[in-house]
Amino acid sequence: MPSTCPCTLGVFDSGVGGLSVLRALWPQAHVLYVADSGHAPYGEKTPEQVRARSLAIAGWLQAQGAAALVVACNTATAHAVEALREAWPQWPLVGVEPGLKPALALSPSGRVAVLATPGTLASARYARLARSHAAQAEVLALPCPGLAAAIEADDAPGLGRLLDDIAHQLQAAQVDTVVLGCTHYPFVATELQARLGPAVQLVDTAEAIARRVQALLPQAMAGHNGLLQLWTTGEPAALSRMARRWLGVDLPAAALAV
Ligand code: DGL
Repeated sequence: MPSTCPCTLGVFDSGVGGLSVLRALWPQAHVLYVADSGHAPYGEKTPEQVRARSLAIAGWLQAQGAAALVVACNTATAHAVEALREAWPQWPLVGVEPGLKPALALSPSGRVAVLATPGTLASARYARLARSHAAQAEVLALPCPGLAAAIEADDAPGLGRLLDDIAHQLQAAQVDTVVLGCTHYPFVATELQARLGPAVQLVDTAEAIARRVQALLPQAMAGHNGLLQLWTTGEPAALSRMARRWLGVDLPAAALAV
């Protein structure tokens, strides 16, 4: 049923990763959240596939009456943000990209790594971002195939192996600051930090996205008792379980066929 509140945010991700962004948006805002878990991971799909999924979900959120769209997915932003802006030029839209700029500002040595999906790191948008900071630092772009899928599947042994390997590569490169360039990755930040030790800083962009939403649509972030509706193209019980774990809410999720 279409939303009646004129300041509801439509938020989507390839899956549960966008819940890490929701932690900074909700309950200040009313949120309709779509997890495209039936089509995750986006990071290993073609740009055309990611664009088609993003347009389909955004169209559904728009039809529900979302006043603004938050693309809580680095991969979807990288491949689809221009198509989304073109499809709905008047619709306020906030995307997310790896926090390279804040990482470089934080890094004492200028040795920084960006962890992201293969799709994000292969995109023209990321290439532009990296180029704009190239003079400032040495940046290790480390694609993490399988990591978002393992988080999505809650696969603890698989996650352990992937994180060991990632930590090994980060240590070999002697980076002191690591950008979590996929919205799924904050959910394994504690495990990664434990492997890297306290001297390495992890950078997440959820708060920066919330500030951008606040600047664009201040009325959307004005409350403290926001309504939250969860939709998924995957398994509703799995999204509901993740929302309990990461947002502390007991909320059923609904199945969405889009
Ligand atoms: N959470 C997504 C991102 O921020 C994508 C993960 C995936 O589906 O590969 O890039």
